[in-house]
Amino acid sequence: MKVLVTGGLGFIGSHTVIKLIEAGHQVVIIDNLFNSKPDVVDRIDKIVGVKPKVFIQDVCDKDKLMEIFKAEKPDAVIHFAGYKAVGESCQKPLMYYRNNIDSALSVLECMMENECKNLVFSSSATIYGETDKMPITELSPRKEATNPYGQTKVMIERIIEDVCKVNPDFNAALLRYFNPIGAHPSGLLGEDPNGLPNNLLPYINKVATGELDHLNVFGNDYPTVDGTGVRDYIHVLDLAKGHVLALKKLENGCGLFVCNLGTGKGTSVLEMVSAYEKATGVKIKYEIKPRRAGDVAESYAATNKAKEELGFECDYTILDACKHGYEFQKANKVELKCTKNN
Ligand code: UD1
Repeated sequence: MKVLVTGGLGFIGSHTVIKLIEAGHQVVIIDNLFNSKPDVVDRIDKIVGVKPKVFIQDVCDKDKLMEIFKAEKPDAVIHFAGYKAVGESCQKPLMYYRNNIDSALSVLECMMENECKNLVFSSSATIYGETDKMPITELSPRKEATNPYGQTKVMIERIIEDVCKVNPDFNAALLRYFNPIGAHPSGLLGEDPNGLPNNLLPYINKVATGELDHLNVFGNDYPTVDGTGVRDYIHVLDLAKGHVLALKKLENGCGLFVCNLGTGKGTSVLEMVSAYEKATGVKIKYEIKPRRAGDVAESYAATNKAKEELGFECDYTILDACKHGYEFQKANKVELKCTKNN
């Protein structure tokens, strides 16, 4: 298939491009470099020996996107492009709504107008909101998200559902990610957030390389195994593989398909710190701090649907993910990019 990947130079996008090329798909990338670097395409080339065509372009610009559709005639789109920082979305809600909703509408309109009938959308477990019933199945209700970033995922899922309702031959997979971590084992691709990381593993990586002094553990009084928050951490290459499997499902004409992508296993913050130390041999200094607003105690996926309907299984462990994340961080540590505010 010829697959247009929006945000294909980003963290999850670039790993998915690797898996797509390895599976024999032809890939075209569109990315505006908002949160990614242009040399990612050379790194992709180094790993798979194929340099996909890249358009440095904002997906929100529908006229430009339309030109790309007309020229490239993709069979499918995987839509990653979007802003993703939870904290920033609370500070700049309009910027998040404008960008994330606009880009999704542009993609959908271009698909409709060009008879492109297969879409994979990068959704998130954040759409389940606060839920006590673990593991989280796809039948758990979609709730109001606790922040504008999450709210855009809720809204885009609804938009895609509505499009599917009136276009019976349109196929869309809403993939609800749990917590993607890790990096490519080559050390060439990984997560490189601008500024101070919000998410756990990027933060631990920077503590491990000495870029940050210590990890702040947000809360140790949750009703969990050791009091710290529990999440379902999935290696980014496993997540990427899920997209290739979803594409196959779409090709067979499945209409709307909603699926969690996680491992099914919960890991607490302190368990993750131990795993990281075991995988890398580096000691991670940490301090217990108050809970972070908006955090839930536990979140992990029911994985039966992914297994039964996609044949999805994980190839990597969290130890692999810690090791790969650390290798990437070491190889790409430029300088002390973050403010040492802790
Ligand atoms: C967060 C977002 C979620 C988004 C996801 C993207 C919030 C409330 N949720 O999920 O909407 O889809 O990232 O990957 O921001 N932790 C620490 N210290 C840190 C960072 C995190 O103790 O410096 C803890 C958190 O309290 C949590 C766990 O580590 O228990 C995971 O946090 P994080 O990596 O930010 O992911 P989520 O909160 O699950």
